[in-house]
Amino acid sequence: MEKIVFDYNKRFEPDEGADRDYTFDFDTIIDKGIGHATWRCYDKDGKLEEDNISYSVAESKYLPPSTIAKALHARIDNVHIGYESIYPGYYESVKWWCRTRFGWDVDTSWICHSPGVHDGIQMMIQAVCQPGDNVIVQTPIYCFWGDITHEGCHVLPNELVLKNGRYEMDYEDLEKKCSDPKTTAIVLCSPHNPVGRVWTREELLKLADICIRNNVFIISDENHWDIVMKPHKHIPFSSLSPEIAMHSAVLTSTAKSFATAALIHSQVYIANPEVRKKYLKVQYMSYRNVFGLAVVCGAYTKEGSAWIDQMCEYTYHNFVYLRDFCAQNMPEFWLTELEGTYLPWINVEVLQIPSKEIKKWLDDTVGLKIQDGYFFRGNYDDPEADPGAGFIRLNVGCPRSFVVTAAEKLKKAYDIRMKELGKK
Ligand SMILES: Cc1ncc(COP(=O)(O)O)c(C=O)c1O
Repeated sequence: MEKIVFDYNKRFEPDEGADRDYTFDFDTIIDKGIGHATWRCYDKDGKLEEDNISYSVAESKYLPPSTIAKALHARIDNVHIGYESIYPGYYESVKWWCRTRFGWDVDTSWICHSPGVHDGIQMMIQAVCQPGDNVIVQTPIYCFWGDITHEGCHVLPNELVLKNGRYEMDYEDLEKKCSDPKTTAIVLCSPHNPVGRVWTREELLKLADICIRNNVFIISDENHWDIVMKPHKHIPFSSLSPEIAMHSAVLTSTAKSFATAALIHSQVYIANPEVRKKYLKVQYMSYRNVFGLAVVCGAYTKEGSAWIDQMCEYTYHNFVYLRDFCAQNMPEFWLTELEGTYLPWINVEVLQIPSKEIKKWLDDTVGLKIQDGYFFRGNYDDPEADPGAGFIRLNVGCPRSFVVTAAEKLKKAYDIRMKELGKK
């Protein structure tokens, strides 16, 4: 690999000035790194469980853009890895990405940090809520429950409604829940994991109007913000208007887009100086991960941008493959449209297997590791809550051959169960 100097004062851009045509290979199966949660899990005796391709973890399995390794190599060449302060080149990379990908002009002062997005949500709740407050989540949803209850707050579900196979927000219920004086925040998931929605401008503005009128702060988890299928467009919540920016924070990272979760580094964009002050008071103890910063610089490049576009296109074809395979072989199964994320949401209620059991049943029966709908109930205080009943989530952010394997396993399970039910 050619030697590249890491200039702390400039945006990391190995292809500056070059007019390259980028073509990436998403079919190659990458090395199964030791301890990589997507590939290998160890049992509690430290024994490796074999054949453990998991479709349950929200992480892609693609060969990443080369600029990530280039930035890491360049940074490691400077062998000093002591406490790191954030350098101008890093801020330039982050701002460049916001501007070129989303048309969002971010002020350097807004860019705060957290180890993971989870930590960021938890610290934001500490900053803007008091113990005993209500925090709204739109269920079924990736579990923020612990981030909320850890701070002594209550989870208030605002269930999404399915209309003609597409999830929408229930604004009437949202208004009711926001008007409770004990409700002080909402954790919005945008794009939404697991239902795959990319919220439109109109939907976001309607939510913003209700929240702002009721003085409810919007903590917008945008960890999947890059993974958006054409023609949908992701809109960072705080970019909607200067007023909305004062009532919201955007949390994101390269973790979902580029599979970099283990570098434990995320961004929290806070435009409101008062809220930022409170957040920084909560967050003051956390240090920066030298390599986490370098990865951001390596990802947020021209090559990284081209990689994201092609990755989304490839992943969408994986989704179409799975959807068509289901239609041909398991006609009662259906999928919500994948507008964003690499996590199709599949209705398998015809199998008549309780939500709490389907994950184990699929693993035991055909060795398929997925996430069940019950995992996304949002309100873990209420074991009866199950807004994701009848659904499973299956990760297709992977080489097509894996999607083919998963689809075949799903068909095997379907055939077995339909026979048991006397339907075949
Ligand atoms: C929407 C969403 N937010 C947050 C997280 C957790 O992110 P992190 O690992 O950065 O805490 C995930 C992980 O799957 C996610 O899907």
